[in-house]
Parts: sequence; structure tokens; C-alpha cells
Amino acid sequence: MSISYDDRVAVVTGAGSGLGRSHAKVLASKGVKVVVNDLGGNVAGEGGSSRAADDVVEEIIQAGGEAVANYDSVASQEGGQNIIQTAVDNFGSVDILINNAGNVRDKSFAKMDLDNFTALMDVHLMGAVYCTKAAWPLMLEKQFGRVVMTSSSAGLFGSHGHTNYASAKLSLVGFMHALIQEGSRKNVLVNSIAPMALTRMTEEVMSPKLAPMMQPEFVSAMVAFLCADECDLSGQIVECGMGYFSKVQIVEGAGVFLGNGDVPSPEDVQANWDAISDMSEAKPYRHAGQVSRAVFHKMKAEGLLPQ
Ligand code: NAI
Repeated sequence: MSISYDDRVAVVTGAGSGLGRSHAKVLASKGVKVVVNDLGGNVAGEGGSSRAADDVVEEIIQAGGEAVANYDSVASQEGGQNIIQTAVDNFGSVDILINNAGNVRDKSFAKMDLDNFTALMDVHLMGAVYCTKAAWPLMLEKQFGRVVMTSSSAGLFGSHGHTNYASAKLSLVGFMHALIQEGSRKNVLVNSIAPMALTRMTEEVMSPKLAPMMQPEFVSAMVAFLCADECDLSGQIVECGMGYFSKVQIVEGAGVFLGNGDVPSPEDVQANWDAISDMSEAKPYRHAGQVSRAVFHKMKAEGLLPQ
């Protein structure tokens, strides 16, 4: 078992603090050349300073690694292109993209200004889309790419006061699921993490008692693994932090046909809810086509396919 990065170039967005800083430093310590992107704003994504990215670049260089800074916001197509172009201009290419930049603007949905909803979609979802769009053709052409989306348990499972954040975070999983269909055959692999770490974003909700084990480095081990030359995983979602690692998966139950070929009634649905929601034989699917095929097979087996 070994982990290697053969002359690889990584872009880590939002790498001026917290998790991104840790991912950038861990990758650089393994010999990966890193673009440290960060606009240097506050936790809501407002304001900006080149200091955040510059400081991390300085730390990497001091430790003997190679890194350059980029200060663009991920939340525009031009920003995404500039970020990837920084990798190309300085290191000749891009092999690894960690879509990590993020902000929070928490409020109950009743009180949320919709500008704060779209602002989060712009950074978390569209930021990842813009950066991936710019890196994707380069990765397909060289037949090597490792992309990591930063999702969240708030999106996977829900969280009060986070409708904007949860929507953006789960949409990244949908983006990943569709992308893996287009990248896998060219060794361009896409995975997602749902991290748990004590950073400026979470310091108000995390217990300080857990601080020693909540360091971002506990998460970066998974990110670095997912980006290694040897890693052939794609489409994984992994909850990680504090030394805890667990795969998360979307599964579908065995299901049931109602109405015997006729249109089922709402009363049929009510009467059969236990069977509809039975997850005892639940399984995952690799893509949407597999779900349709499984349903057709079941129809055939039950003699329900129209002749
Ligand atoms: P952080 O606030 O320390 O880091 C986020 C970084 O992204 C900041 O340096 C910020 O300046 C940068 N950023 C924000 N908007 C940007 C933009 N438009 N363009 C470029 N950079 C931008 O927070 P943390 O915790 O390190 O968060 C990193 C990622 O992990 C985020 O996507 C966050 O949503 C996600 N996450 C974190 C969790 C945690 O437990 N810390 C839990 C689940 C997800």
C-alpha cells in the first residue's frame, strides 16, 4: 500500500484558512504543487484581503513546498477560469481540484433574505461548477483528474437555520453524481467529503473540549487519499473528522407496485406506506439508468409489463 503524487498540481479553493489551509499544506508536504486560492473575506464571504492566501503560501514555502496564491472569488466564471489559469501559468497544468471555498449566512427560512440564499448557491455550488468547468477539459485531455467536493452533513441530513447552506451542499452531491458518469473512463474521479472540524466557521457551535481532535488535519487525510495517484474511487461521499471516517450513501428500497396496472389511488398509497418505505432490501445504484432498469425488471417479474 502506498500513496503517491507524481509531479501533481493541485488547486485548493478557500485555502486561506481552516480546512482549505490544512488540505493545501498536507498536499504540499507530499510534494504536490499547490495554488492557494482565497479572497480573504469574513465568514459570511464579505470583504477581502490577499493576506489570507499569501500567509498560507508563505507557510508552505517555509516548509520546503511549492505554492502560489490566487485571490479570485470562486463565485464567477471569470474567477474560476483565473484560478485554474494560475495553476497552468505557474505549474503547467492542474491534476487535483479541491472545491472547498465556502461561507455561511444562517437564518431561519422565514426570516431569510433570498439574496443570502443565492449568495450561498453562488459560492458553494456555482463556485465549484466554475472551477471544475475550467479544470475539466485539461483533466480529460491528460486522462488524470481528482476532484473533491466539500459537502456537509447539513445538506445530507438537514439542519435548522441552514436552508441556503444545506441546499448548496447537497447540490454538490448531485453535481458529483452526474460528473462521475462523464469522467470515470478518463481517470477523472470525483468524490465528496462531509467534514467536521473546528474552524472560524464552526467555533460558535463546536465544543472547545473537542478542539484537539477537531483540527482540520484530521479531515485532510481523507482529501489527500482521494487525490492520490493510486486512488480509483469515484462517486464516494465520506463523513470525516476527529479520526472518524464513514461512507454515506443514497439507497433505494425494493419498492412495490400498486394498482395492478391501473392508476393507483391516494388511498392505495396510504394503505401501502409500510411496503413503500420498507428499506430492508435497500441498495445503491451507480446511475439513474440502473434504477429504471431495475423497475422494468421488477415489472416484468410481476407480469405488469404491457404486451
Ligand atoms: P473557513 O471560513 O475557515 O474557510 C472557508 C474559506 O473559504 C475562507 O478562507 C474564505 O475566505 C474562503 N472563501 C469564502 N468565499 C470564497 C470565495 N467566493 N472565493 C474564494 N474563497 C472564498 O471555514 P471551513 O470550516 O474551513 O470551511 C471550508 C469548507 O468546509 C466550506 O465549504 C464549509 O462549508 C465546509 N464545511 C465545514 C465544516 C466544518 O466543520 N468546519 C462542516 C461542513 C462543511
